[in-house]
Amino acid sequence: MALIPTLTQYLLEHLAKHPQQRDLALIMSDLSAIGKYISRETNRAGIAGVRGAADAINVQGEQVQKLDVFANELCKDYLRRTGHFCALASEEEDTVVDMEGYGSSARYMIAFDPLDGSSNIDANVSIGTIFSVHHKRDDIAAVAEEQFFQNGHDQVLAGYLLYGSSTVLVFSFGDGVHEFTLDQGLGEFLLSNERIRIPEACPYYSTNEGNTPFISQKDRQFIEYVKMEKKMTTRYIGSLVADFHRNLVKGGIFLYPGLDKDGTGIYKGKLRLNYEAKPLAFLAEQAGGGATDGARDILDIVPDKLHQRTALIIGNKDMVEEYRMRDQV
Ligand code: AHG
Ligand code: MN
Ligand code: MN
Repeated sequence: MALIPTLTQYLLEHLAKHPQQRDLALIMSDLSAIGKYISRETNRAGIAGVRGAADAINVQGEQVQKLDVFANELCKDYLRRTGHFCALASEEEDTVVDMEGYGSSARYMIAFDPLDGSSNIDANVSIGTIFSVHHKRDDIAAVAEEQFFQNGHDQVLAGYLLYGSSTVLVFSFGDGVHEFTLDQGLGEFLLSNERIRIPEACPYYSTNEGNTPFISQKDRQFIEYVKMEKKMTTRYIGSLVADFHRNLVKGGIFLYPGLDKDGTGIYKGKLRLNYEAKPLAFLAEQAGGGATDGARDILDIVPDKLHQRTALIIGNKDMVEEYRMRDQV
């Protein structure tokens, strides 16, 4: 009986070929452990007392959910204690996280969205965790916010956990995108899809049509184009990780254009660059896809704020290019 490699076996094989990536392999193992904890809590949310809102509004101005708090506290405590990171940045934290003495000789920093798709928690719809790892910059203080102002091409590890009908871990060290599925009985992630390539076909477009009144005329025209000319089917889950994962494995394009909600004529992105757009753009590129904010490749954008937001059009390479070239008209 051919045994499916566990994540541990896969990482050991990877290490044999890339001995210099020892710490990254250990980091991946730590992230998988975090994924198991959040998967377990998510799968029993209704009886674990982690449904509903917590009594807090986060730096994003959003109502924090109890499972956001659980995931955020777990990520901070677990990642800090690994000693692998000089700095942590979370969607749920105003600024970089206090390292409490850990990580003083660490060579990496990590930005994460502890729980993506919070509006879907109580509806039992797929949600996820997103992470992005860079080398520590030696030209600035280890815990400075500027550690997180790095070019997306320089990520050394990016990925996500998706707590859906199964729990999957999808990541890339920069040599392809690989998916592992959690075998709940074994408590192990097993390899379920290696070197994922986004399909050439693009059957799905994914956007919140409720935002139609707030997007630009150009964006309205492009969305009409994919519907009327490209005849795509719409799929919108409202959890970025789930919408991205569907497009990664089945083909498609996700669009969250800039919104002008107050009539100023300025279109602003909702999604966050450091721990949503950049890591997913890294995976998209690794899988033969693309990602843009409309003008630039997402991976070329160097943040200058920790929680910088961006428009995000991501997925099928040709469609992302069509969207971007459209702006050059
Ligand atoms: P988060 O729950 O981490 O705040 O992220 C929610 C994001 C993303 O997951 C999703 O694509 C988007 O918000 C949905 O936004 P709308 O509800 O405006 O469509
Ligand atoms: Mn999110
Ligand atoms: Mn979140």
